[in-house]
Amino acid sequence: MDMQRVWDRPVRLLHWSLAASVAAAWLIGEERLPWHEAAGYTALAVVAARLLWGACGSRSARFTSFMRAPAATWRYAQQVWRGTEPRYLGHNPLGGWMVLALLGCVAATGVTGWLYTTDMFWGMAWLDLLHRSLAWTVLVLVALHLAGVLFTSLRHRENLVAAMLSGRKRRGAPEAVDAGELRQDRP
Ligand code: HEM
Ligand code: HEM
Repeated sequence: MDMQRVWDRPVRLLHWSLAASVAAAWLIGEERLPWHEAAGYTALAVVAARLLWGACGSRSARFTSFMRAPAATWRYAQQVWRGTEPRYLGHNPLGGWMVLALLGCVAATGVTGWLYTTDMFWGMAWLDLLHRSLAWTVLVLVALHLAGVLFTSLRHRENLVAAMLSGRKRRGAPEAVDAGELRQDRP
């Protein structure tokens, strides 16, 4: 099959490191706090690196290539509802907002966790509650994220998980929406 590169190496590495560190923070919990904190700080570092890469990475990694205005995102959602949405090589508009939500929520969880360990905020019940609520929100977002990945994979008959592993996707069909330099790769 005619494939083309979409996700660069840092995007893939950071994605799976983020998934692993968030899962580790969740699974370890507060029983082994030093390990929990290490996993949480790793997740924070990955988010920071992804934000940097989102400013200067390859085309499909850049936020400007996949963040769409609310109106355009709403139009895309309506197309999904009608079953007429185009295939995107990078993130689709809903996926773009999910990227932002996931990164933002993981960052907020990590920061509140860190604040809880500082002298100023230690023992504050509201911060503990906030940290836990954010951690649960991350879990809900991940569930929606996986549902979105599964739905889009079925809809466009492609394995998006394999694409996030190999970085490659089926070359854009004529109706595919490719951003910027990805379009130049077309035959
Ligand atoms: C804690 C768990 C996870 C988090 C926080 C997470 C977060 C993210 C983020 C931030 C992106 C955007 C990638 C980027 O542009 O850098 C993304 C994309 C993606 N993730 Fe995850 N992810 C998680 C788990 C998973 C798992 C378990 C799978 C697969 C089984 C998965 C499959 C994908 C795929 C296929 C994409 C690309 C979507 C597309 O084609 O538009 N993720 N994820
Ligand atoms: C982004 C990643 C993180 C996630 C998903 C996460 C998730 C959680 C969860 C689910 C709990 C409740 C654990 C349980 O009930 O056993 C918890 C507790 C806690 N987390 Fe995190 N956490 C993260 C990052 C951090 C960081 C970076 C720190 C500190 C450096 C931290 C410090 C704590 C502390 C101190 C508690 C216990 C609070 C208490 O004593 O009541 N977390 N975290």
